[in-house]
Amino acid sequence: MGMATEDRFRVIGGTHLRGEVRISGAKNSALKLMAAALLAPGLSTIRNVPDIADVDIMGDLLTRLGCTVTNNHGVVTIDVPQRPGHRADYDLVRKMRASINVLGPLVARTGKAEVALPGGDAIGSRGLDFHIKGLESLGATAHIEHGYVVAESPQGLKGAAIDLDFPSVGATENIMTAAVLAQGVTTIDNAAREPDLVDLGEFLISMGADIKGLGTPLITITGVSALHPTDHTTIPDRIITGTWAFAAAMTQGDITIHGARAQDLELPLEKLASAGAIITTTEDGIRVRMDSRPQSIDVATLPYPGFPTDLLPMVIALNAIADGSAIVTENVFESRFMFVNELIRLGAQISIDGHHASITGVKELSGAPVEATDIRAGAGLVLAALVSEGETTIDQAFHLDRGYPNFAAQLQSLGAKVTRE
Ligand code: UD1
Repeated sequence: MGMATEDRFRVIGGTHLRGEVRISGAKNSALKLMAAALLAPGLSTIRNVPDIADVDIMGDLLTRLGCTVTNNHGVVTIDVPQRPGHRADYDLVRKMRASINVLGPLVARTGKAEVALPGGDAIGSRGLDFHIKGLESLGATAHIEHGYVVAESPQGLKGAAIDLDFPSVGATENIMTAAVLAQGVTTIDNAAREPDLVDLGEFLISMGADIKGLGTPLITITGVSALHPTDHTTIPDRIITGTWAFAAAMTQGDITIHGARAQDLELPLEKLASAGAIITTTEDGIRVRMDSRPQSIDVATLPYPGFPTDLLPMVIALNAIADGSAIVTENVFESRFMFVNELIRLGAQISIDGHHASITGVKELSGAPVEATDIRAGAGLVLAALVSEGETTIDQAFHLDRGYPNFAAQLQSLGAKVTRE
């Protein structure tokens, strides 16, 4: 998204982050829950919704579809009309890929959906072929017309056996949110298992849907004729949790992360432990401490329960200042490595070969102006800036607003020298 903006983070490196943070609701869950509210007429309530720009965009999208949306300190209510609209316009969809999540609910509810193609994203091509094939298996027709996916099912949807070539999160979500109102049984084989997807499934079950096998590679959905509104609390954000855990390890700090669910982050926490971090569970979360320079860690990203691709920038940033050399492999999005060039500007020693990055740790990075290319790259650069000598400015800071509520204030409360300008 090439939106020009003057917003930037200014970071002076060299502090150890110490203190406490509280984890807000997961962006990648809350946005999907909001879209899925379309499945039942009436007033649904979603709690623990993070205070981020993407939530406002999803709210605007639902408003245009005829819903009344309110947001009171993270309690979002969505009043869905009997007959919602069916068109998700390009001006909103282009700002946020998760807009595509209205596709399944709209086809199921209204028999028609026109959703703008999300277009370029700085982390890879991100096709929609699995979404479209899945809806076609359920009996919808789908084609691309003037930059929109147009899907129709005037006769309603019919359950089917669907086998995904790759456990795509978005495709599993769109198929699941369509199949809940289809006639008969749908199976999704090689389904995504991400905690956010399980949260969405539980939201649908609380609306009256019949879904079995959430969190496993085989999801079975028996369609029902109608769903009812619900009241649901969003799960905590595992990527923000991981970001703080890496921040503690990289800055040789000590952060207590309230509200974190360690079970959603088993592999990243294991990797951090092998880098030398001391991780303990607390009453309501985890505490991550580090007393020495981290050891380098080899990582390959994979669909859940593998290492999350959204933490790839943090792993590369950690390895950039670690003791030793590491190979980090990206298996989910082809262009995540774009941000590596920014890290190199800070003095990191990294070479890229296909989807592998070889990183040799240096003792200290050195501050420079860099630019965030997406949400997670932005967070990785902030972590790198925290361990860089001198001043780093991170341009295009609006990316961070899309995923990290109050990021600058939270960093300041941990002792970081950060300003947002
Ligand atoms: C979601 C998350 C994103 C996370 C990703 C993987 C949201 C808003 N975003 O993205 O933060 O990094 O899961 O955990 O929840 N693919 C196709 N055809 C398709 C669908 C996907 O080829 O029809 C490919 C994509 O290009 C990508 C891979 O499959 O290479 C994984 O994509 P997917 O799991 O669908 O990710 P998203 O749902 O887009």
